[in-house]
Amino acid sequence: MTIDSPHSINTPSEQLLDTITQGLHDKGYVVIETFLPAPMVEALYLEAKTLSPVAFNAAGVGRNAGAQLNNTIRSDRTLWLSEASDTQKQYLSYMEALRLAINRQLFLGLFDFESHYSHYRKGDFYQKHLDAFKGGSNRILSSVLYLNPEWQESDGGHLALYQDSSDTHPQLIAPVCNRCVIFLSDTFPHEVRVSQADRYSIAGWFRVSR
Ligand code: OGA
Ligand code: MN
Repeated sequence: MTIDSPHSINTPSEQLLDTITQGLHDKGYVVIETFLPAPMVEALYLEAKTLSPVAFNAAGVGRNAGAQLNNTIRSDRTLWLSEASDTQKQYLSYMEALRLAINRQLFLGLFDFESHYSHYRKGDFYQKHLDAFKGGSNRILSSVLYLNPEWQESDGGHLALYQDSSDTHPQLIAPVCNRCVIFLSDTFPHEVRVSQADRYSIAGWFRVSR
């Protein structure tokens, strides 16, 4: 007889964890093509599409209390994830397993993970920025998971990832479903190119406590 638990608990595979920690160790960033089990990413996409019109707000620029609305820098709309929804809870627990694995392998002392859904409508963008300034933020690692099942090259909305501030040939990463990009928050300038279609993602940050 086999005993099935009523709720299957999704955790990242050992192979996925190795790919991520290896990439971060060697290059400071990593692009993963199949990040979540398909049902999880489908549920997140449905939830983002459903909640966006009723619960997403204009995104802030700057940290916490210093956050300001400035739609010349970014024009997406966001919703912070919480434990209130099972779908979000599953994602947060998946990222928690990733946080612990990264700490075991890379000794980054990551303390927690915060994340929000983003919705870029047609015409939306996020200008070139760093997620953290050296020494000035508790954000250590950034992650972006894309949720868009039918993304076309002509829909634009690429993440442009620069190696440093003098790089003029950024890597262009299309926001296709279940692709995830993880990078050092204070090292890689990046931007979201103008999107020509509805673009859904989850941006997140592993932080230290300070
Ligand atoms: C961010 C960000 C990138 C993306 O939210 O800080 O840079 O591809 N997002 O959505
Ligand atoms: Mn960013």
